[in-house]
Amino acid sequence: MFINFMKKSTFVKKTEEFSKHLQSNFVKQLVVFDELDSTNTTAKELAVAGAEEGTIVIARTQTHGRGRFDRVWQSPEGGVYLSLILRPIVPVEKTSLLPFVAALAVSSTLESYGVQATIKWPNDVRVKGKKIAGILLESEARGQTVNYVIIGIGVNLNMDLTVLPLDLQTRSTSLLSEVGTSVDIYEFLKKFFLQSDLFYTLFKEKQYDSLFDQWKTKTDTLGRIIQVQTSSGTVQGTAVDIDTSGFLLLKTKTGEIKKIMSGDCLYFDELHHA
Ligand code: BTN
Repeated sequence: MFINFMKKSTFVKKTEEFSKHLQSNFVKQLVVFDELDSTNTTAKELAVAGAEEGTIVIARTQTHGRGRFDRVWQSPEGGVYLSLILRPIVPVEKTSLLPFVAALAVSSTLESYGVQATIKWPNDVRVKGKKIAGILLESEARGQTVNYVIIGIGVNLNMDLTVLPLDLQTRSTSLLSEVGTSVDIYEFLKKFFLQSDLFYTLFKEKQYDSLFDQWKTKTDTLGRIIQVQTSSGTVQGTAVDIDTSGFLLLKTKTGEIKKIMSGDCLYFDELHHA
C-alpha cells in the first residue's frame, strides 16, 4: 500500500475546501494538485481511466504546461491552470465548436471584472491586444463517437508578469495588471464554472447560432488582415467570417475564399509593430 506522507499545501487544502461547498451543475469533481507536469496530461490519464464528465483537474503550478502548436505554457504561481474533462454526446465534428465555448466562458468571466476581453480566432483571449488566457483542446474519438474531450485553460490571474520570459512579458497581461489589484481565485473559479455551464448548455442544446453570434461580438479577428500559419504553410488575407464548423474564411488578394480549419492566427498590423 502506498501511503502519502506529504503534507497538503495551503493551495490544495483551500481548493479542496472550496470544492466541498461549490454548488455547480457543471463541476462533478475537482481534483487538486499543488504541482503537476500538465493538468491536461493528468486529465487525459483520468479520462482514459473512466473519469466522468465534469471532472476538473487544477494545479497551483505546472512544470511542463503545454500550449498550442507544441509551445510551452509558462505556468508560474498566480495563474489558473485547469483542465475540464467533457464527454459530449455529439457527432465528432462538433467538437471543433468547443474552443469557442471555452473562449466565451473565459472572456465572459473576465468581463465580470470590468475588463474588456477580445477573442482572437479561434480561442486566444486577450485584453488590449495582450494575451491573458489560452485554451488547449485535446480529444479522443472512436469513429463517430467522442470518447473524451480535455479543455485545458490557463489564465494569467494574479500573475507577476516580470517572472515571464522577456518576449512574453510584452505580449501578455494578467487580471492583476488590468484591474490593479489581486483577485480571489475562488471567486474567479465560481464565476468561471457558472459561465462554463451556461455556454456548454448552449452547446449541448445545439444552439450553435447563439454561440457563434456571441463569439462574433467578442472577436477582433473578423474584418482584419491576418496571416495564418497552418500545417500546410502560411496564408494571408482578410478574415471575412467563420463557417458553421468554426473554420475561418479568409479572402486572399486574388479574391479566393480559403477555409482554414486550424492554425496560428497573427494580425498583420501587430506583426509589423512587433
Ligand atoms: C495556448 O494558448 O497555446 C494554449 C495554452 C493552454 C494552457 C493550459 S494551462 C492548463 C492546461 N494544461 C496544459 O498543459 N495546458 C493547458
